[in-house]
Amino acid sequence: MRFAGRIEKLPPYLFAEISRKIAEKRSQGVDVISFGIGDPDLPTPERIIESLREASLDPANHRYPETEGLPELREAIAGWYERRFGVSLDAGREVLPLIGSKEGIGHIALCFIEPGDVALAPDPGYPVYAMGTVLAGGEAYYLPLREENGFLPDLEAVPDEVLRRAKVLWLNYPNNPTGAVADIAFFDRAVAFGRRHGLAVLHDGPYSEVAFEGYRPPSFLEAEGAREVGIEFHSLSKSYNMTGWRIGMAVGNAEIIGALREVKSNLDSGIPQAIQRMAIAALEGPQGCIEEHNRVYERRRDRLVAALRGLGLRVSPPKASLYVWARVPEGLPAGRQGSTSVEFATRLLEEAGVAVTPGIGYGPSGEGYVRLSLTLPDERLEEGVRRLREWLWE
Ligand SMILES: Cc1ncc(COP(=O)(O)O)c(C=O)c1O
Repeated sequence: MRFAGRIEKLPPYLFAEISRKIAEKRSQGVDVISFGIGDPDLPTPERIIESLREASLDPANHRYPETEGLPELREAIAGWYERRFGVSLDAGREVLPLIGSKEGIGHIALCFIEPGDVALAPDPGYPVYAMGTVLAGGEAYYLPLREENGFLPDLEAVPDEVLRRAKVLWLNYPNNPTGAVADIAFFDRAVAFGRRHGLAVLHDGPYSEVAFEGYRPPSFLEAEGAREVGIEFHSLSKSYNMTGWRIGMAVGNAEIIGALREVKSNLDSGIPQAIQRMAIAALEGPQGCIEEHNRVYERRRDRLVAALRGLGLRVSPPKASLYVWARVPEGLPAGRQGSTSVEFATRLLEEAGVAVTPGIGYGPSGEGYVRLSLTLPDERLEEGVRRLREWLWE
């Protein structure tokens, strides 16, 4: 058997590796507290589950779905964009439902990337932007997100030689893993940059609904001309606690949406229709659950940030997203130092049974940081904080 070279180019998927380590500790009887993966612990709201119950009984939903999704779902997505962002979309040409946004983020590389091509990708960033690129035979050029720039990329610093080979620019705000946010002025600059260099701008915004203190993150499509150069990926995963149901969408530039639809129609057979009905219920029903969930996350954020600061870690409270991005502490008591984020995270798991994600897993500029997710029940978060304190200082 001879595998393709592209398989060897892929590093182990960070989250799979963390899950494996956690499972190993648990099999040894350790009660691991995981601040690892950003998977909401709260259930999908009952009214959405109710729509699945109903839809599952309809024989029309027992058959193959269409790649482009139910027209009612595309309308529901367009309606939600209009209500939430004031962005009008043509549900026929500018909206494409996805089997979770990760699926579309991975597949879109096949629309743009050929061997030798470059994708500009945030560093640190969600690993799929770079990995989709590698699977398509291209390479990622990392755009460092630095704390002193509010974790926004310095687009003007990309060398001309790279720009000549670049086809796409990936952006993601509210950002995973840093929790940073971007305003419309930044998206305006990204549109201008994309236009100037002939790049497709691909914005990934699954955390737009997870925000605190009344802040409402904008959509990339609110920027003037955004639709001429790019699309936005969005997801129901984090807004409605629906990670397990696998449903998301791509919206924006009709040509890009058409190309992605073309690729997908050759590779998958769409989203189970009963799940599409859930998405319609989620988007069209009362939205109070979002505020409710955000109150829970905000309380956890405040608790975690205060505890981490109390331990001497440098951290700012995120305005949005499910993550706290903390600097690996320096100057710890002897025996508690770890020079890298992986060393720090590994020892924390080994010695205290607490899992955090090492920043390096999100790209070279993530070194020196760890990510803690807010998706664990309050009492587990408290226990995690207690163990962290004990491990660091006692
Ligand atoms: C930045 C970002 N984009 C996309 C996704 C994928 O979400 P989903 O495939 O569940 O829609 C995630 C999941 O954690 C994410 O953090």
